[in-house]
Amino acid sequence: MNRDAVLAFFLGLATLASAEVTTIRSCPDVSPEICTIRELRIAPCPRHPCPLKKGRNATLDFDFTPNFAASKLQTAVYWADDPQQTPFGTVGIADACPHITCPTVAGTPNIFTYTLYIGKKLPNGKYWFRWKVWNEDNPAEVCCLETRVELRR
Ligand SMILES: *[C@@H]1O[C@H](CO)[C@@H](O)[C@H](O)[C@H]1NC(C)=O
Repeated sequence: MNRDAVLAFFLGLATLASAEVTTIRSCPDVSPEICTIRELRIAPCPRHPCPLKKGRNATLDFDFTPNFAASKLQTAVYWADDPQQTPFGTVGIADACPHITCPTVAGTPNIFTYTLYIGKKLPNGKYWFRWKVWNEDNPAEVCCLETRVELRR
């Protein structure tokens, strides 16, 4: 192997080591037929559920295949058990297009990538979060997953 190949190999290992595939579950009331989500990766994630340090960034990315075409998409994250489904503070309701490939094409795999700042005032503990990406013109066309992480100092 030449030097670049060796470097690429070790960079690949470093990426594998820092981003971990995490457990996900589907969201209530969202049919997986509208959108399938294959895998969510979170970094850093030295153990499960991923411990996310407050005051730091965590990166999330997931592979999804929407069964709908849309050019304007929105994204938000929620506490899974929040009955009001208030969008999570630092994200709010955001344009999803900087984080995915827009427009979406029905049946075509896509990747969502997000750098999430973990606010210092959040409580410590293990919580389920719900992450959504939806068609702005038809919110029933939605990709949704739930994952459990640990917020800690
Ligand atoms: C978090 O990420 C944002 C944008 O990527 C960056 O501006 C900020 O400095 C990062 N904060 C920390 C604590 O790493």
